[in-house]
Amino acid sequence: MRIPIDRTSAVPLYRQIEEFLREGILSGSLAADTRLPATRQLAHDLGVNRITVENAYAELEADGLIFSKIGSGTFVLQPFPIPPLPQDDSDALWPLWQQEVQTRNQIYEKQLSEQVIEGDESPSLINLASGIGDPTRYPVEEFRKVIQRVMRRDGIAALEYGGFSGYPPLRDTIAHVLASQGLQTSADNVLITSGSQQAIAMITQMLVNPGEVILVESPTYGVGLDLFRALRLKIVGIPTDKHGMQVEKLEKVLQIHHPKLIYTIPNFHNPTGTSLDSQRRRQMLVLADRHNVPILEDDYVGDLRYEGRAQPALKELDPGGRVIYVSTFSKMLMPGLRVGFLVADGPIYDSLVRYKHVNDLATSNLIQRAMEAYVTVGRYQAHLRRSRRVYGKRRIAMLQAINAYFPPEVEVDPPKGGLFVWVQLPEKISTEKLRPMAAEEGVTYAGGSDFYLDRSKGDNYLRLNFASHPVADIEEGIKRLGKALERISS
Ligand SMILES: Cc1ncc(COP(=O)(O)O)c(C=O)c1O
Repeated sequence: MRIPIDRTSAVPLYRQIEEFLREGILSGSLAADTRLPATRQLAHDLGVNRITVENAYAELEADGLIFSKIGSGTFVLQPFPIPPLPQDDSDALWPLWQQEVQTRNQIYEKQLSEQVIEGDESPSLINLASGIGDPTRYPVEEFRKVIQRVMRRDGIAALEYGGFSGYPPLRDTIAHVLASQGLQTSADNVLITSGSQQAIAMITQMLVNPGEVILVESPTYGVGLDLFRALRLKIVGIPTDKHGMQVEKLEKVLQIHHPKLIYTIPNFHNPTGTSLDSQRRRQMLVLADRHNVPILEDDYVGDLRYEGRAQPALKELDPGGRVIYVSTFSKMLMPGLRVGFLVADGPIYDSLVRYKHVNDLATSNLIQRAMEAYVTVGRYQAHLRRSRRVYGKRRIAMLQAINAYFPPEVEVDPPKGGLFVWVQLPEKISTEKLRPMAAEEGVTYAGGSDFYLDRSKGDNYLRLNFASHPVADIEEGIKRLGKALERISS
């Protein structure tokens, strides 16, 4: 076989041989089943080392273009026709299973388009849509120092996987913090998770099978709804009012639907900002107990109270084993740390520990240690106090601005804590239609339908984040939104 070889080229000799043969195979000039010369023979013919030819053959074999049969030689394989990857957005070019993934999981479409909007943000756009506190208030420098200190103190131990349930001193600290808020528990009942989203996902997967029913407030946390949709659960919504879930409607729903889980956000609910009153908390527990249904209590932002007295957590009222409590450091501290936790009693705790292990082995050990160091020295409590002060002022500023710049028919129930104001616009106004006008004015928001199971509902509601911007931006943002509302109404 003649293979042109350029000994002055920077391309290694084995590559030149490989490329020549590859081209021959792919173009068809070396047909399937053609026997290639033995490596010794080809090396001799080309005047190269035998290893050079062996290396070339090895590359071609790894790519499935040739195969060796012991005792018979090396043969050309039928090249597998791999269609090129699509260069445009046309779905038809993707393999069939890829196309099916897209239609089966519609939920992701929405998230992707949200990311696009974020990427397009102009610097002057005031984003009132976010679901977190103010990133400029993250204690970046303090946390950097804490991480360095932990690395110095713990060395290799901080970089191991760590225990299945999470870093024991952090679990201990969390149990203490919860006890100081009235929820008596022990580190043995605390499981650290990668954000509270993982806790919600694990609990739901463990307790509700596809096709079974989960009860939620209507409206509720949009990514929670997306999760339940992705798990192919039947979602049944219970309406809310200014005192949270309308628990009076619960009994009938329990009788009709036999749900496997109740998912509730009793404090400063996302998106409505309301809190479940204490009478309803007790009633919910009684009903859940009577119908043998567990409760997943999502306390994502309960610490951020600006006025009024704290209600007892459902878990606090639980005589044992009925409620699984979930919370997070994302809203009060930094969402990128991905530290959340759950508190559970009874056999479900061990099952969740094992489930967590098979899910992702562990939550970052280093970050858990840093979190423990940060919380223990009281910095967390100080940060929380400052956040309450700052966000509390911003909440008032937003409520005042809404009063000043929105049409008088608008209805708002002032939240006593959390991050959001939920605004009811006149029925005729569609927040989806309002969006481009608001964008032209330089402001964006979360539209109400994202929080409803049936996306045709809630279109005349806005969820506005008052915590993530300074007062001046809030006033300006609401003023801009007021202008967009004026435009859409006229
Ligand atoms: C109500 C609620 N629960 C849970 C989460 C999950 O947060 P993380 O996974 O960051 O703890 C969020 C995040 O937005 C939320 O709004």
